[in-house]
Amino acid sequence: MTTDQYELEFVGDIPPESTIPNLAQIMIISKDQSYLTHGIHKFPAKFFPELPRYLIRRYSRKGERVLDPMCGSGTVVLESLLSERIPIGVDIDPMAQLITRTKTKSLDSDKLESQSKKLVDQIHQAYEDSKQSPSIPVFNYRDNWFRPFVLHELGTIKDAIDSVTDRVSSTEFRDFFLVVFSSIIRDVSNADPHCTRTVIRKKSIRNIAVGDTISKFKDALAKQLQAMSALATSLQLIDNRKVILKEESATAMNFEDNSINLAVTSPPYINAVDYPRTHQLEMYWLGMIGNGPLSTMKRNYIGTETVYKREYDELHYSGLSTLDPLLERIFVSDPRRSYIVYKFFEDMKQQLKETFRVLRPGARYCLAIGSNMIRGVPVHSHEILSEIAISPETGFELERSFFSGLIRHFIRIPRKERMSGEWVLILRKPHQ
Ligand SMILES: C[S@@+](CC[C@H](N)C(=O)[O-])C[C@H]1O[C@@H](n2cnc3c(N)ncnc32)[C@H](O)[C@@H]1O
Repeated sequence: MTTDQYELEFVGDIPPESTIPNLAQIMIISKDQSYLTHGIHKFPAKFFPELPRYLIRRYSRKGERVLDPMCGSGTVVLESLLSERIPIGVDIDPMAQLITRTKTKSLDSDKLESQSKKLVDQIHQAYEDSKQSPSIPVFNYRDNWFRPFVLHELGTIKDAIDSVTDRVSSTEFRDFFLVVFSSIIRDVSNADPHCTRTVIRKKSIRNIAVGDTISKFKDALAKQLQAMSALATSLQLIDNRKVILKEESATAMNFEDNSINLAVTSPPYINAVDYPRTHQLEMYWLGMIGNGPLSTMKRNYIGTETVYKREYDELHYSGLSTLDPLLERIFVSDPRRSYIVYKFFEDMKQQLKETFRVLRPGARYCLAIGSNMIRGVPVHSHEILSEIAISPETGFELERSFFSGLIRHFIRIPRKERMSGEWVLILRKPHQ
């Protein structure tokens, strides 16, 4: 698809008063992907801020409660905060929680600057002291993922973070340093940088010299200090700084009925990203997972690929006219995949019902979701989610939907593979 196939084009912000017609195809040329703290850490399938900002400003008012039930790296949470709403972020993933917490917490710039200086001094001292051997976590295939000198440098940085933040005993500074630390781990590992999954491919192992890991950390720290200071300035003008974050499942949330004014989210793509595996190296270093298999943790994620043979021996039917023919076709070549797709939509049904429960009557649930090709079968998730959402069992009305293409502003000639797009569903909980 090229840009001229879109009916409406927005460069940067979409004015909240713009009505996007039902079934329109729009193009957003994003300018803001990493402004303020949005770029603090990579995260797969992250929102470009312009879309949630538009939805938040169009469908909620200042002071109202805006929920992202699968908040990932917290794009909706930060945008809600900047728009003076009360942001609520739910995610089952501990990395997602850490990034969101850090991204939305404004810290005193002078204190942070001086703590960072102490941290860098401590790293240098420890690194130059040849007698010190840093603590390095033990995990499966560790020495395949990292070269020995990289392990040594990462261990030195982590020890320094532990000792500096022990002294000031502030979890907020600690979170910030840990996120910066985490942001370089993938880059200095042997994992393929072009793959969201954590895999090693001999051809794509990067060249990393002794000392590079520490330099990368210092560069990332300097950059994120500026981002944090810009965030502090932006939030100074905002009265309401209350952010509510919960590490729990979006299918059973701990909120009262009818208590949320708007929900905005981008659910996981089926078949596309295995979140615990994507962040496994970072989670080992941050002590979020032990040396055991990731499978127990993965089972609770929507879109999980950790399924048992006995579950997919037989074809499962959903009762949905948009989904069952696809499940049958996928089952012919791959019964396991057919079950994964079935389970994804069963979990999303629970999620939609749960969001319906917590929304106030009249409030909207805006979902952005792309399509997938699974074993040669096109799966248009927005059609299936719409059928689930408006079924009597769930109860939403489908107010409108539109297709949103996205380009990063610096790419002049859009190349097919760099463009992505998703359907946005605007659901509404009826009044009575
Ligand atoms: C596409 S990502 C969201 C990205 C986010 N919009 C952003 O801008 O960073 C989907 C998120 O769903 C989360 N998730 C998967 N299963 C979940 C569950 N059962 N409960 C809550 N969150 C879940 C994943 O951990 C992941 O962070």
